[in-house]
Amino acid sequence: MFTKRHIISTRDFSKEEIDDILSRAEELEIYAQGLGRGAGRKSDLLEGKILANLFYEPSTRTRLSFEVAMKRLGGEVINISSPEASSAAKGENLMDTIRVVSEYCDIIALRHPKEGASRMAASFSSVPIINAGDGAGQHPTQTLLDLYTIKKENLLDELKIALIGDLKYGRTVHSLAYALSLYGAKLFFVSPDALRMPEEIKMDLREIGAEIFESTDIKEVIKEVDVLYVTRIQRERFPDPAEYSKVAGTYRITTGLIKENEDVVIMHPLPKVDEIDAEVDQTKNARYFLQAFYGIPVRMAVLSVLLEK
Ligand code: NCD
Repeated sequence: MFTKRHIISTRDFSKEEIDDILSRAEELEIYAQGLGRGAGRKSDLLEGKILANLFYEPSTRTRLSFEVAMKRLGGEVINISSPEASSAAKGENLMDTIRVVSEYCDIIALRHPKEGASRMAASFSSVPIINAGDGAGQHPTQTLLDLYTIKKENLLDELKIALIGDLKYGRTVHSLAYALSLYGAKLFFVSPDALRMPEEIKMDLREIGAEIFESTDIKEVIKEVDVLYVTRIQRERFPDPAEYSKVAGTYRITTGLIKENEDVVIMHPLPKVDEIDAEVDQTKNARYFLQAFYGIPVRMAVLSVLLEK
C-alpha cells in the first residue's frame, strides 16, 4: 500500500501507488454520497481523526471536497479559509503556523500561493501534509481525481490526451502530465506560445519516455485525441496584467468544435471562466461536473491511506 508520509508532487508517486489509490477510491465511492441521497452508506473509518484545511488561496472544490471526504469517513475538520482570517495577517510565517497546527490535528491539506510551500511545510510538520496546490507548482490530488475520471471512461491505457490552455502557470497540468506519462499516454500540449509547458517539465517528461507533441491550435489535434483537458488561463499568476490581456480568451470549446470528434471526452479541473461555451455543458462529451464529484471518493482514498492504522 501507499507508504509516503506526505503527498507533495505526482513526481513522488509510482504507478503502483497511484493504482492503489484509484482502487481504494472505487471501494469508497459507495460512501461518497453518505446517507443523505439514499443510495450511499455511512463509514466510521476515520472516526476520531481531524483534518486541518489550511487554504491561503481561493478554493471551492478542493477545500469543500476534502472537508466532505473527511466527514463522510466519520472524521472532523478544522479550517483556515483565507490568509486574512489567520495569524498570517499578523505576520506569522508558514513554518510557525505548521509547527502549531500540526499539533492540533492528524493531517493537513495546504494550499498556498508560493511554489514549494508544501514541501517546506512537510519538513516542519508532525503530521502528513497534502499539497492542495502550491502556486504554479503542483496539485497532486487533482491529478488523482483526473486519473480516476479517465479510468472510469476506460481510457487510462493507451490514452491520447490534449492538455489545453495555460500550461505555463497551471499546476493541474504540471501534475497531470507527470502522472500520465507513467501510464504511457501520448501528450498533446496546446497553448499560446507565451504559455507553453515549462522546458524543465518537458525535459523530465522526455527522460521518463513520454511522447509529447506541441501545438497552438486545438483543431490540429482534436481528431487525434480521446480527451480534451481544458484549463483556465491563470490570471492571478501573471506578473503583468497586460500580458494576461494578450492571451485571455485564446481558446474556446464550442459545440461546433466538438463535431470534429464526436466521442471526445471533455474535462476541466474547474473553475471555468470563458474557455468552454455554456452549450457544451449539456453535451454527452462534458465530464467536468462528474470529475468534480470524483474529488470526494478520491480524497477519501487519500485520507484513508495516510491515516489508517
Ligand atoms: C485548479 C487550481 O486551483 O489549480 N482548481 C482546482 O483545484 N480544481 C484550477 C484553477 O484554478 O484554474
